[in-house]
Amino acid sequence: MDLLAGIESRTSAIKLSAPGPTREHIEHIIHAGTRAPDHGRLRPWRFIVLEGDARGRLGDAMAVMLKRKVADAPAEQLAAERKKALRAPTIIAVAAKIAKGKIPEIEQVAAVAAATQNMFLAANALGYGAMWKTGGAAYDNDVKAMFGLAPEDHIVALLYLGKADIPGQLVEAPTSEVTTWL
Ligand SMILES: Cc1cc2nc3c(=O)[nH]c(=O)nc-3n(C[C@H](O)[C@H](O)[C@H](O)COP(=O)(O)O)c2cc1C
Repeated sequence: MDLLAGIESRTSAIKLSAPGPTREHIEHIIHAGTRAPDHGRLRPWRFIVLEGDARGRLGDAMAVMLKRKVADAPAEQLAAERKKALRAPTIIAVAAKIAKGKIPEIEQVAAVAAATQNMFLAANALGYGAMWKTGGAAYDNDVKAMFGLAPEDHIVALLYLGKADIPGQLVEAPTSEVTTWL
């Protein structure tokens, strides 16, 4: 698909199912991520690919977090929370490994957000649906540790990928409302 058409028609898939991207396609999607602009060439991005049973580890962490917040959460609610990590056959956590120095942290996070959007568009171009999610898990230090990250690092996206069973609905908003011409 032409790049502009891909950008202009991009939506988040509402329901994803198997198959997820092939190994070759995942590598292609990650490579697209690394083509993002990056102040200082710090390469702050880290990619953690979760497929199959590995998604269960994220689901378990989500359930632990819920239990921490709602001590008496019923078993069904915990099971539902665990299942959230199974909403797509493939999840790529896209994280910013923060380097202390002259490049501000926000710029490192911005580079990783740009990487995520590249990956989203690349996945679409390869025929897959995508959803960018975060939620409490993205801010949890135990989840970060599971992904080899330090508390000061950021999980910018949990990018859910798969076959788009229900594609998203395109909602156009006028650019004039958010643009100032000086
Ligand atoms: C940083 C970031 C985090 C997000 N986290 C969530 C999330 O946790 N749950 C969710 O339903 N949508 C989340 N979204 C929004 C969706 O990915 C999606 O963009 C939004 O629903 C608008 O739909 P569209 O992408 O089809 O235009 C997040 C988006 C961004 C950029």
